[in-house]
Parts: sequence; structure tokens; C-alpha cells
Amino acid sequence: MPAQNDSSIESKIDNILSQLTIEEKVAMCHAQSKFSSPGVARLGIPELWMSDGPHGVRGEINWDDWGYAGWTNDYATAFPALTCLAATFNPDLSKEYGNAVSEEALYREKDVLLGPGVNIYRTPLNGRNFEYMGEDPYLASKMVVPYIHGVQQNGVAACLKHYVLNNQEVWRNKVNVKISDRALYEIYMPAFKAGVQEGKVWSIMGAYNKFEGQYCCHNERLLNKILKEDWAFDGAVITDWGGATNTKEAALYGLDLEMGSHSDGLTVSAKYAYDYYYLANPYLEMLKSGEVPISTLDNKVRRILRLMFRTTMNPNRGFGVMNNQEHLDVARKIGGEGIVLLKNEGNFFPIDPVKNITIAIIGENATKQLTPGGGSSELKAKDEVSPLRGIKERFKNAEIIHAMGYNSGPPQYGKVIPPKLDNDSLKTAAISAAKQADLVLFIGGLNKNHYQDCEGGDRLDYGLPFGQDELLDEVVKANPNTGVILISGNAVEMPWLGKIKGLMQAWFLGSQSGHAIADVISGEVNPSGKLPFTFPVKLEDNAAHYYGEISYPGIDYEQEYKEDILVGYRWHDTKKIKPQFAFGHGLSYTEFQLFNLEINSNKFEKGQAITLSCSVQNTGQRPGAEVIQVYVGKNKSKVPRALKELKGFKKIFLEPGATENVEIAFNTNDLAFYDESISDWSLEEGSYTVYVGNASDNVSRTFKIRIK
Ligand code: BGC
Repeated sequence: MPAQNDSSIESKIDNILSQLTIEEKVAMCHAQSKFSSPGVARLGIPELWMSDGPHGVRGEINWDDWGYAGWTNDYATAFPALTCLAATFNPDLSKEYGNAVSEEALYREKDVLLGPGVNIYRTPLNGRNFEYMGEDPYLASKMVVPYIHGVQQNGVAACLKHYVLNNQEVWRNKVNVKISDRALYEIYMPAFKAGVQEGKVWSIMGAYNKFEGQYCCHNERLLNKILKEDWAFDGAVITDWGGATNTKEAALYGLDLEMGSHSDGLTVSAKYAYDYYYLANPYLEMLKSGEVPISTLDNKVRRILRLMFRTTMNPNRGFGVMNNQEHLDVARKIGGEGIVLLKNEGNFFPIDPVKNITIAIIGENATKQLTPGGGSSELKAKDEVSPLRGIKERFKNAEIIHAMGYNSGPPQYGKVIPPKLDNDSLKTAAISAAKQADLVLFIGGLNKNHYQDCEGGDRLDYGLPFGQDELLDEVVKANPNTGVILISGNAVEMPWLGKIKGLMQAWFLGSQSGHAIADVISGEVNPSGKLPFTFPVKLEDNAAHYYGEISYPGIDYEQEYKEDILVGYRWHDTKKIKPQFAFGHGLSYTEFQLFNLEINSNKFEKGQAITLSCSVQNTGQRPGAEVIQVYVGKNKSKVPRALKELKGFKKIFLEPGATENVEIAFNTNDLAFYDESISDWSLEEGSYTVYVGNASDNVSRTFKIRIK
């Protein structure tokens, strides 16, 4: 789609600004309904329509409240959760994802897609981790940029969220996060910065929580200084729904468009509240009395008009498509590439799809719809292929017996609805099914209910819910030939891990879930996903939880990120705490060998490129893909450092026997740390170790280098 010329847009904006009354301008700075803000009818300026995001285009919500509007034309494609996308380690797929979801947004006449989210995975209890891109700032940055490009190439704005430090759902509207500048710049902000500077994102959503005592949706330092001044963001800052709390701050501290006020962002809303929004009448009064300058208003409206010219007022924009085969194919491909094979004793997987065997499928997630629920990212999927359906369609010669095993009740925001069925009798039926089968596939995990992988609350336990641990124990006793397919967006405790034969992390995969899972189980697709976050053995092994209540969830709404920069594998590596499964881990049905590992030099000047090269060979029997990962650590530093940090990766597809040479390059400047003594990045001279391998805990070779 041809872009509009920026300078012509700016002069058009000047022209419009000169014609608008102050009332019309103020009206443009806040919502007129749950998901739209007004245009200016007399000048032919259209409304701006938004929708969640990020896994597909959400069903239509009522004008004034959170109920579904009951339209029948809003069933869309549900794409895999962003955790799955991150697990592909494949930026090309991220672009395909962004493109497909924005084509659907366009068809549904949406201008702004509320996503993607890049809040860093800090604790496995966070109910919204499934909507984000994992624990590593480099991985999240590399994956988010093409997603934004894919979305925006169709004239739909991405809205990067939630800026910043919204890393838990508990107290999200109240908690004040205390964090070092170093952790802020090195861990929590890079993916936002990449989204702004490389992704050129057109809008960004403020977070609900506070930082330095000030709400993130109108935070002087985060928005005016860092985002708009330092990063030169030229788009619009949108509140999270109900994230504004103060007119003067909203006027002065970087907010442009206020949405969802007088609602909790999920369930409760006051009707006809729009005139009372912080950026509505109260703002108008402050402007008229001179308490805040008109320039604040003009700047907001300029940014909103710019967003409109890029989207709804872009004459070159197309009409979009929805529910087409191509979108289903993209969803399935991402699902297949994102599934992570964690354990595979005795080659339990793949399971030959033409064999005449009896397979017992046990677990609620084999049939539970997982596109509804979870909060704002929930979807009305046109179709959702369950794992049971996908497996039945693929394993045509097998006898499939199914037992639910446990049940959890339907999803409901902010509320747990007790299940209807009796879990004891479900368990008895499951054990009997397990006994009759040649093998068992246990399809469980979390779901999108409150206190699971769901907005508005965090998980209460690290273990599996609904009695699955006990159930699995009994199932394995009844039939030791058991494999587990975990559907979740979070790590879970696995007391049964030693007893099962195979384990797959299958995420929330959307419309094509069952097909993508069957692709991998049957071996049609060789798993190549890698974990985008660490699975600790127990909760206390996670850095945020190690420091107790002050660190998670905080005390009296005050929270300190005491682990500082040591998030995820940085913590496990540095403190030598062995995880259950490490960041970057993921097995395959074939085998790869890395050889000829080389580095272009062992001495570097500042600003010079460091290039790693190696040959990768597929030495097994099946085509497959491997992700080569490069980590770097500073030996002896003047500041505390992580043992190593991801600085490059490359996914490579190889036929059996094939070899390819891979190069991964980065710059010495990428090894700088954020130096609080100068409030800037600083590159230390001296010795570093470069690690090359296929997981953070599986390094094939290290190199010592010096920078001077
Ligand atoms: C969520 C946002 C979402 C918005 C609109 C909020 O509760 O935090 O991610 O985009 O609602 O549904």
C-alpha cells in the first residue's frame, strides 16, 4: 500500500487544526464509546475505531458497556498467542502474523489494533504472560518489530502495550513499581524502544500501574521524556481502558487519547460518562481558565490526526479479508512452529498416524474452547479445532477413546465459576480409558478462566490446577506409556515429569489448535519451537519470588523489582539455579550438529561488528529446523552482570543430511550496559565470553574476546 507523504500530511494537519474549535479538539482526545473516539462530522473527519488485539480481532462490544453486541458478522480467525509466536524464534512468521491479523482488522473496519504486548515475563504467576513475548528483551524486540510492520503495512495501526512495567495483574491499577534505571532500560524497555524506533509504531498504550509514584498513562518521565523526546515517538499515546486518573497530569504528561475511563477495563462501566472523562469537560475548563496551555491540546490533536491520516484517512487503504484459508494457514504454521518439544524419552513422539492403535486422550483441554475467556484478548473464533478433533481427523486408523479427566467450569472475568461435573467420577473414567489404550495423550494445562491464564488476576499457584497432578499420577500408574501436551501461556510445576514419556508445550493456538497439534504429534511437522521463558522447578527458584512479598506482589501497593536485571535465565544462570527447562530449550525429531564454529576476531574496537559463523548439519532422518543462539557475558565487570545474555539467533531449516553455513552478527555496542552514573549506555573494555549453542543451557562452544 503506497504510504502517504509525511510532509503533505503535516500541512493538512495544520490546515485542519486551524479550522477546529477548542470543543471539537477536546472531543477528539477522549472516547465516545467503549472502542471509538469521535471525528468531526462537519469537516468530514471520520471516527477512529479500535479493537483488541493481539491474537485476532475481538467481537463487537456494546457502545456503552462491556457486553457483547451480539453481532453475527464478527466471528474471526484466532491466531496463536504471542508466547507461541515468540517460541517460533522466527521473525518472518511474525510479519505474516501481523499482516494476517490486520487484514482481518481492516475487513472489520478497525483502525487501531490494540496489540502487540511486550511486557516482560517476570513471574510465572502473571495472568497475562500468554499475551506477551517472553522474558528476553532481545527476543521480544526481534519478534515485535516485524509484527508491527505486518500490521501497519495495511494501514491499520498497531498499539504497542502496556508501556511499561505492567508485569502482573494483581493490583495492576494501584501498584507503584520501584525499579533501578538499569533494569528499566536493559530489561523492560528495549522491546518498546524497538517497536517505536524500528517498528515505527503509530500508537502506544500506557500501562495501568504507577512508576515513580505517577500513573504510567500520564507519566512525565516515561511519556514526555523517554518516549516522545528521547525516542522521538511521533504517534499517539492511548490510555489503557480506565488508565487515566487525573486531568492535569493527563493534559501535561504525554497522554493523547483517553479511553475506558470510569470502567475497570474489563467488566464495570458507568454509562454516558464521556463528558466527565479527565480529558473531556474538566480539561476544557482547565484550558479555558489558562491552567494548562492550549499547546498541550494542539499537540494531542496533531498526533491523533496523524494517526487518522495513517489509518482511517488513508485513501490508499484496502478493504481487508477475514476467515480466508490463507489466514488459517498462517495460524496453523505459527502453531506448528511454536510448539516446543520438551521431553521425548524413547522417541515417544512422533506417533505414527497410520498405525492401528488405541489412543486414550485425557484432559479437559482436549475439548475445551480456549479462544473465549482470558480477558480482552478473547475472541469469537469462526471455528476452533479442538485437539481431540485434530487428532481424530489425523489418526484415522487409530481407535481414539476420550475421557475428560477433570473439569474446571466456564470462563468468567474476575470470577471462578465452579465446575458442574464431579471430578472424582471423571478421574475414574480417565483411569479406565488409560488402561484400555496402547498409549495416553494427556491434554491439560491451564485455561482462560479467572486465576489461570487470564487478565484481571494472577495465578494462585505454580502447580497445575483442577487436581491434574493427582490425576496424572494415577493415569501414569494405569498406563506408563503417557505423553503430556500442556496448553498454557505460562510455566507450571511438574512433579510428574520423571514419570511421563513425552512432553510438549503447546500454548494457546487459536482456530487451528487441533490441526497444529496433530501436525506435530504425527510428525508431519517437526517441532522447532524454543522456550521464550524459563520453567523453574519451583516458584521460589524464580527471581521475583525469591525476594518475597516486597518483590511480588508488593506490600501496600508498593513493589520493588529486587532481582533487578536478573530476570529469567539471567537469574538462573548467574545464581546457578538449575531450571526445569531453560530459556531457548526445545527438542526436535531430527538431530543437528554444529561445527566449524568461528568468530571473526578475538580483539575488537568499540563500534566494530562481531560475527559468529558455524555450519549446521541435519544429521537425522527428517527435515527440521534448529535455532542457533548466541549469548555474551562480561567477565569481571564494574557492575553486577548476568552470566550471559542473548545477542543473536537464527532459525535454519534443513533437509536430512543437508548442511548450511550460518552467520550471526552484532555490534560491540550491543554489549553496553546502562550506566546509572552517567544516565547513558556504556561499553566496558576488557574481556567477554561469547557462547554459541541451541539453548541457554546447551552451549556448543565459547569464545573469549577483548574489546578496547
Ligand atoms: C486491557 C488492554 C485492552 C483494553 C481494551 C484493558 O483491560 O488491559 O490490554 O486493550 O482493556 O479492551
